[in-house]
Amino acid sequence: MGEIILEARNVNKYFHDPVEVKVLDGIGLSVNKGEFATITGKSGCGKSTLLYILSTMDTDYEGELNIDGEQMKGKNEAALARVRSGKIGFVFQFHYLLNEFSVLQNVMLPGLKLNRFPPAEVEQRAMAKLDQLGIGPLAKRKAYQLSGGEKQRVAIARALINDPCIIMGDEPTGNLDKKNGELVFEIFRRLAEEYRQTLLIVTHDQEFASRTDRVIRMEDGKIVQS
Ligand SMILES: Nc1ncnc2c1ncn2[C@@H]1O[C@H](COP(=O)(O)OP(=O)(O)OP(=O)(O)O)[C@@H](O)[C@H]1O
Ligand SMILES: [Mg+2]
Repeated sequence: MGEIILEARNVNKYFHDPVEVKVLDGIGLSVNKGEFATITGKSGCGKSTLLYILSTMDTDYEGELNIDGEQMKGKNEAALARVRSGKIGFVFQFHYLLNEFSVLQNVMLPGLKLNRFPPAEVEQRAMAKLDQLGIGPLAKRKAYQLSGGEKQRVAIARALINDPCIIMGDEPTGNLDKKNGELVFEIFRRLAEEYRQTLLIVTHDQEFASRTDRVIRMEDGKIVQS
């Protein structure tokens, strides 16, 4: 048994508009430290809805969520925001970088916001993450001056800045060509293997999923394989 980083127990989620629909049904899931796991399933099966709950962004659900040994139920928005910025890194399909800011500033932002380290140290750490991902030389460029693949690597560096215990992604390779998708996959694999980084990635790419440690398959709001 590994060390459990994230655990969901009996999670149900309903949408009420226009009629009540149960979109997540009895989700139970635990993710171990250092695991590279993917969530797959048909469009509409509830993957993004689940990721929103696991990342504490959506609090309107039944069931329990534990992150890094801490119960999320009952925490107020400020406490959840601290969990999000300190313990979870996100990589989305679209990078959401600030275009007029430099690469380095973009990566530093969540670190400055968390305020765990002084700015000079956040900067050093940001440079280290950029070097680790092979994009150190791009640090001074504005985000809009990068290619799509480069932007996504910057987004990964940004997700890593606070040394999160888990990185979550919703189709992080969905907007990339094959070569850049492969590059992002390799970065994730290396993070898991060399740094024991935990990764929970939603993808519809079966090939991508099949090369990870674990494929969690959803159907109609339920986990049917994990
Ligand atoms: N705000 C909402 N209100 C009502 N229904 C919603 C809402 N958001 C999502 N749904 C519905 O919940 C179900 C799950 O949606 P979700 O976005 O989680 O699917 P998904 O598996 O991520 O799909 P995709 O692969 O297309 O991204 C779908 O049937 C969707 O129509
Ligand atoms: Mg989705």
